[in-house]
Amino acid sequence: MLSQALLRLASAVSRRRMKLLLGIALLAYVASIWGNLVNMSFLLNRSIQENGELKIESKIEEIVEPLREKIRDLEKSFTQKYPPVKFLSEKDRKRILVTGGAGFVGSHLTDKLMMDGHEVTVVDNFFTGRKRNVEHWIGHENFELINHDVVEPLYIEVDQIYHLASPASPPNYMYNPIKTLKTNTIGTLNVLGLAKRVGARLLLASTSEVYGDPEVHPQTEDYWGHVNPIGPRACYDEGKRVAETMCYAYMKQEGVEVRVARIFNTFGPRMHMNDGRVVSNFILQALQGEPLTVYGSGSQTRAFQYVSLIKAPRLLQPYHLVECSRDCALKGPSVTTRSYCFKGVRQKIHLK
Ligand SMILES: NC(=O)c1ccc[n+]([C@@H]2O[C@H](COP(=O)([O-])OP(=O)(O)OC[C@H]3O[C@@H](n4cnc5c(N)ncnc54)[C@H](O)[C@@H]3O)[C@@H](O)[C@H]2O)c1
Repeated sequence: MLSQALLRLASAVSRRRMKLLLGIALLAYVASIWGNLVNMSFLLNRSIQENGELKIESKIEEIVEPLREKIRDLEKSFTQKYPPVKFLSEKDRKRILVTGGAGFVGSHLTDKLMMDGHEVTVVDNFFTGRKRNVEHWIGHENFELINHDVVEPLYIEVDQIYHLASPASPPNYMYNPIKTLKTNTIGTLNVLGLAKRVGARLLLASTSEVYGDPEVHPQTEDYWGHVNPIGPRACYDEGKRVAETMCYAYMKQEGVEVRVARIFNTFGPRMHMNDGRVVSNFILQALQGEPLTVYGSGSQTRAFQYVSLIKAPRLLQPYHLVECSRDCALKGPSVTTRSYCFKGVRQKIHLK
């Protein structure tokens, strides 16, 4: 009896234990599934987050890369190599204005003045001049480029002025004769007014065209010229003549120090290919394999000079002219178009 009762008790206990064990096992199972679920959702969250972060990072990278590129370009431009520039003491360093300094002659003059260590301000309206003619100085501490038309007054502090602003080639100055006249008259008046106000010495880039269609060869300084005041070239010829007159009026009446350089035909790098004059015409025609055009008999004379202000003899340089005590004509030897240019071009450019 007792043993049966004990057995029943034992089986009841073991059943309860079994139930308990089963319960614990079930709980452990549920807990483990829950844990897995939590883990999974954590991993899922993390991967979503990581993916998102990756996407954001790649987006940021996409935006930042071009900026980095720009910064690299800027750094490069800051470390840009300029042509060598002399050091000048404060006393010797001049503040120089070059009007028309982005043009053919003006940009070579700017090179010379910059290399000699002066502070140069180029003023140009880019009618025929180009920024690229002076781009190698942009950013240099001694250099400034101003987009300005000399027909409007300019207020600036300078010690010397080189006044070159004016179209020089026939197609350019005949394109807008009134503007050419304004540039050479009102523009020159404005620049002379500036020279007077700041006490600067001024050099006017005049031209051999002031002799017009000369009857005297070669032209000397005391020859007054033979000019047609109403001809197609008059806007330039007469514009320069009156510009010279204004310079001397300012010198006599106001005491402004002026120099006038009558420049003859100049050629060299940066000259306009559509200049319309004999040297560029010959070169262009030769390059295009066309016959070279010689007008008339080809025996007409011209005086040519190479533009380089760096290697040219002292007297031929407008740069030195502003320092010396008298005016002079800037010209090379007189030669005929056929004997000089034609042969020269033939030698340099291999014609078919
Ligand atoms: N190149 C020659 O053979 C030659 C001969 C005689 C005289 N010159 C004189 O030398 C000077 C320069 O001639 P270039 O051959 O260099 O000519 P260019 O046309 O190359 O240069 C003239 C410059 O003056 C600028 N300019 C024109 N009108 C202007 C205005 N209203 N305001 C500001 N800038 C203006 C042009 O944009 C250009 O940069 C001119 O005065 C010209 O009369 C030149």
